[in-house]
Amino acid sequence: MWFDIRKYDCLPSTNSFLKEHAQQGAMEGTVIIAERQTEGRGRLGRSFYSPAESGLYLSLLLRPTFRFIPAHFTCMAAVALCETAELFGITPSIKWVNDLYLCDSKVAGILTEGAFTEDGSWQYAIVGIGVNLVEPKGGFPPSLQQIAGALFEHDAPSLDSFAQELLYRFAAWYEDFDPQRLFSEYRSRLNCIGKQVEYLNAAERSVASVVDLCPDFRLLIRTHDGTLLRAGSGEILFLTE
Ligand code: BTN
Repeated sequence: MWFDIRKYDCLPSTNSFLKEHAQQGAMEGTVIIAERQTEGRGRLGRSFYSPAESGLYLSLLLRPTFRFIPAHFTCMAAVALCETAELFGITPSIKWVNDLYLCDSKVAGILTEGAFTEDGSWQYAIVGIGVNLVEPKGGFPPSLQQIAGALFEHDAPSLDSFAQELLYRFAAWYEDFDPQRLFSEYRSRLNCIGKQVEYLNAAERSVASVVDLCPDFRLLIRTHDGTLLRAGSGEILFLTE
């Protein structure tokens, strides 16, 4: 895959910006990187704190011809992110479905968005990745102090070298797509199998235990009343044991 990397000092959101370009016909491989974002977005309508000199905020445009499901992109990005961090000596884990954790703190998040044509094939997909490479100057704001962390304490790679490696790893997964291999690489890095969690989605909130990952990347959970559920949306929160 050829990458056309465009860097900006500041954008509201690299995903929103790239969406406009996608609608105007930008090519697969277009990458938008911002030094900081003022309206960085996360899953479930949340914001993603994106200060300068701290993180990598990147969106990649895809024009998939294969019938990927959205979770494939999120999971490829999560594994590619782990592989990149591992290359630099750090071993994060994945909190289903789109977050990377290190020492109980969220260090990265992925937001996949897209549009389909009338026949149900992809018009475009945008994979947005936000990584806290180092702690922001002055620390995280109080509301994030208990949740957020950084991938590197010292010896952080440059933003460019981390981005380059990450794109290279993602392209390797995307261009030679192997769902079984993705499943096992993703599953082996999950930090929630066997754990007690609270599962939340638009309709319900329940205490559950995580049984396993399903082949379609949904999470198999057993709720407190014994019901088995294949969770595809929503999120899990860890319960202290
Ligand atoms: C999440 O935490 O739920 C996902 C966070 C994704 C953040 C990245 S930063 C680059 C891209 N632009 C955005 O507005 N969001 C994604």
